[in-house]
Amino acid sequence: MRTQVAIIGAGPAGLLLSHLLDQEGIASVVVETRSRAYVEARIRAGILESSTVGLLDEVGVGERLHREGFEHRGIYLQTPGERHHVDFVDLVGRSVWVYGQTEVTKDLGRVRDGAGQQFRYEVSDTRLHDLTTDHPFVTYTLPGRGSERLDADVVVGCDGSFGPSRAAVPSAARQVWERTYPYAWLGALADVPPSTDELIYAWHPSGFALHSMRSATVSRLYLQVPPDTEIDDWSDDRIWAALAERLGAGMDGWQLQSGPIAEKSVLPMRSYVQAPMRHGRLCLAGDAAHIVPPTGAKGLNLAVADVALLAPALARWLSKNDSGLVDAYSDAALRRVWRCTHFSWWMTTMLHTSGDPFDAQLQLSQLRWVATSHAAATGLAENYAGLPIGY
Ligand code: FAD
Ligand code: DHB
Repeated sequence: MRTQVAIIGAGPAGLLLSHLLDQEGIASVVVETRSRAYVEARIRAGILESSTVGLLDEVGVGERLHREGFEHRGIYLQTPGERHHVDFVDLVGRSVWVYGQTEVTKDLGRVRDGAGQQFRYEVSDTRLHDLTTDHPFVTYTLPGRGSERLDADVVVGCDGSFGPSRAAVPSAARQVWERTYPYAWLGALADVPPSTDELIYAWHPSGFALHSMRSATVSRLYLQVPPDTEIDDWSDDRIWAALAERLGAGMDGWQLQSGPIAEKSVLPMRSYVQAPMRHGRLCLAGDAAHIVPPTGAKGLNLAVADVALLAPALARWLSKNDSGLVDAYSDAALRRVWRCTHFSWWMTTMLHTSGDPFDAQLQLSQLRWVATSHAAATGLAENYAGLPIGY
């Protein structure tokens, strides 16, 4: 089979890239190891920056988001006994939207189906070949149908942090920066209306907690836990008790409503950046090139920003034989990647407790500063609500 762009991975980066390329008149085939149902049900991110929403609107994928999502003006930052609202709209004129990655993935899938996008789901043994020649190709095995070869002008690795694309760049040609954090998140999806109108990020001596949401009837909750935590050690009652303590149930009459937990898991926390994001005729986008710890909700938004830069760059290269933008892609994308890597690290280190009393005093001082200083709050708001695409 032959196409212009072989896209590995049908997560948000791969799906949106196929859509943006199509709008530029460029054909692609998307290759994915999982089933479509699995990809669409995978519970991950839930917060969209204003530039992500703007882009989805612009390319015709924002209609359900506006109907079913929730626009938030800001977030609450909490320390024991005090809850402060940081109003992004007042501070930087931009809001964020609560809309699950599952829903973004379904919306993109539907739009791609309507356009006749070619998909290969449930493939195995994906391999990348001849990336530094003019005729790269990808091979994989289709379920029950043997192997297939996909020839392309360009291969784009949108295959997340476990896919083969990042390792297809020879180690001599890549640089990697990495940080593993000494804690993890226990994430719980609960069938209970959110007990808050906007997200609560809570510092607490027992560990960080976050109250997020997915809809008017579904809450998304997170607890800081040790990285070696076994999920079976956390009964639903234990989760709700820890959330109530850390989120300040009883404070000024505020109560946390509990309910059945539909899904719970432990998520490791890591920062990772690989550069360059292009090697010959392979480009990397999204989690394939970089991972951030979840505090601050940047992962999905960064994936969107990458492909928003990459699609016009590839279009110009493949349609006009002008490689200017694609040559600049890695440096341009990495500027935003490093800004978000710093912001996610900063939010993470400000809010997660280490057990060291000196660290705790520094964190409390910093949180008080963000809550009371217009300059400090504006910095948080500018980064959280999102920098423009092409920053
Ligand atoms: P992905 O969504 O990972 O998509 C990559 C795709 O490539 C996957 O569908 C995968 O199956 C496919 N693939 C992998 N290997 C192959 C192969 N060999 N061949 C073909 N296809 C392949 N962010 C938040 O803001 N909040 C959260 O709560 C949050 N939770 C997360 C939980 C987990 C477990 C993970 C991994 C990430 C989470 N993130 C979260 C981050 C956010 O979901 C990601 O940044 C976002 O999914 C990036 O999109 P992507 O398309 O680059 O990668
Ligand atoms: C969510 C995840 C985040 O990492 C975050 O900072 C805010 C919200 C969420 O999954 O809803």
